[in-house]
Amino acid sequence: MRLDWRARSGRPLTGSIRVPGDKSVSHRAIMLASLAEGTSHIRGFLEGEDTRATARCFAQMGVRIEAPNDGERMVHGVGLRGLKAPTAALDCGNAGTAMRLMCGVMAAQSFASVLVGDESLTKRPMARVIDPLSEMGAVIGSAEGKRPPLHVSPALMLHGRRFRPPVASAQIKSALLLAGLYAEGETWVSEVHPTRDYTESMLRGFGVEVMQEGDAVGVRGGQVLRATDIDVPTDFSSAAFFLVAASIIPGSDLTIRDVGLNPRRTGLLDTLRDMGADIDVLNARSAGAEVLADLRVRATRLRGIVVPEARVPDMIDEFPALFVAAAVAEGPTTISGAAELRVKESDRIHVMAVALAAMGVVIEERPDGAVIQGDTHWRGAHVDSHGDHRCAMSLGIAAQFVGDDCTIIDCRNVDTSFPGFLDLATGCGLDIRPV
Ligand code: S3P
Repeated sequence: MRLDWRARSGRPLTGSIRVPGDKSVSHRAIMLASLAEGTSHIRGFLEGEDTRATARCFAQMGVRIEAPNDGERMVHGVGLRGLKAPTAALDCGNAGTAMRLMCGVMAAQSFASVLVGDESLTKRPMARVIDPLSEMGAVIGSAEGKRPPLHVSPALMLHGRRFRPPVASAQIKSALLLAGLYAEGETWVSEVHPTRDYTESMLRGFGVEVMQEGDAVGVRGGQVLRATDIDVPTDFSSAAFFLVAASIIPGSDLTIRDVGLNPRRTGLLDTLRDMGADIDVLNARSAGAEVLADLRVRATRLRGIVVPEARVPDMIDEFPALFVAAAVAEGPTTISGAAELRVKESDRIHVMAVALAAMGVVIEERPDGAVIQGDTHWRGAHVDSHGDHRCAMSLGIAAQFVGDDCTIIDCRNVDTSFPGFLDLATGCGLDIRPV
C-alpha cells in the first residue's frame, strides 16, 4: 500500500537525537557472519526493510539468525561452503547493496540461485557486477540491459583477477572481494576514487587477511572466516537529513549523538561547512574500526558553493538532502560529476529537480548534476518521491519552508533505511505526518 505524507513548516529543531544503525554495515554484518564459522553477535543492527531482506535471504539458505532484541542478531554461521540451495528466489526488495554484494557470493556457490528485487531495483544496472564476476568465471543470466532478475548458475571455479572498475563503487568492490574469498588465487580491486571500506575492515575482523597495495585491496581465496561480534555504528546518511534540517531551519540547535564518521561517508559534513554551516564535532571516540562523535548543529545562513567533484563519492547518498540545503542557501550551488545519482533507487537528479521546481526552487538539471539557485520563494506543492527513501525524507525537510501544506507521495520506502524517521523528526520539531 502506498504511503503519502503531508508536511509544512514546523518549529526549530531542538534537543538531542540518535539515528538508527548503519545500512551498509548491517548488510555486511549479516553476510559475513553467515559465511563465518561460529556464532556472531550483532548489536545496533538496522531494523530496516533492506537489511532485513538480506537476513531473510541468508535464512533461506539455511543460516539460523536469531533476533533476541530489536537491533540485535545472533547469526549461526555455516562457513564459506555451508550455504544450502534456496527453494525460492532470493528477494532483495529495494536493496541494491543486497543484490550486488550477494551476486558476488552466489556466483561462487555450487547451486543455482535467482536474485530478484522490487520495481525500483529491477530497473537498476547490474552489468557493473555481472561483467567482472563473469571474467572470474561466474555464470550470471539477467533480463534485458543486464538488469534483475539475476539467474546465477553454479560456477565450476572462480579465478582471481585484478580489477579497476570505471566507477567508484563500494558495492562493486565488495562483490568482487566476496567472490574472491572463493576464487583460486588473488582478487584485487583498485579504485578510481576510494569508497567506503566496510567490507575490507569487517573481513579483517573475521580473521581474513586483506592485502593492501597502494590504492588496491586484495584477498586470497580459501580463507576461513571466524565468527566475531559486531557493533554497528549509527548511519551518517540518516543523520544527514537532520544535519541539513538543523543547519537551515532558523533557530535550530540540535545534537545528533553517536554518529558514525567513516571518512568515506562524511563528504556532506565538509560541504555544509564550506557553505557556512555551524557544526561542532564533540566527544569523538573510536568504536572498533570506526569513529563515533556527537554532532551539534546550529542554524546559520548558508551560502551556495561549487561542490568539488572529488568529494562526490564521499557523499554519494547525501545529494537529495544537499539539494534542499542549496535551495535555501544564498546564491547558486553547482553539482557536477554525480551522474551515478541517476541510477540510485530513483533518478535522484530528476526526481529532486522536478519536486523542488514544483515547490518554487529554480534548478537547472544537468546530465551529471544540477545548478540550484538559492533564496527560494517557496510554495506548497504536491510532489512525488518516486518511492525513493532519501528523496522522500529530503522533500519532507524542504516542505518545512512552505507555509501551505505540501503532499509528498510514495514515502513507504523510508522504512528501507530509516524506520522511525517520522517519530524522530516530529519529536525534534519537523511537521511531517502520514496522510
Ligand atoms: C553502498 C554503496 C553506495 C551507496 C549505497 C550503499 C554500500 O553505492 O550509494 O547506498 O553499502 O556499499 P555504490 O557502490 O553504487 O556507489
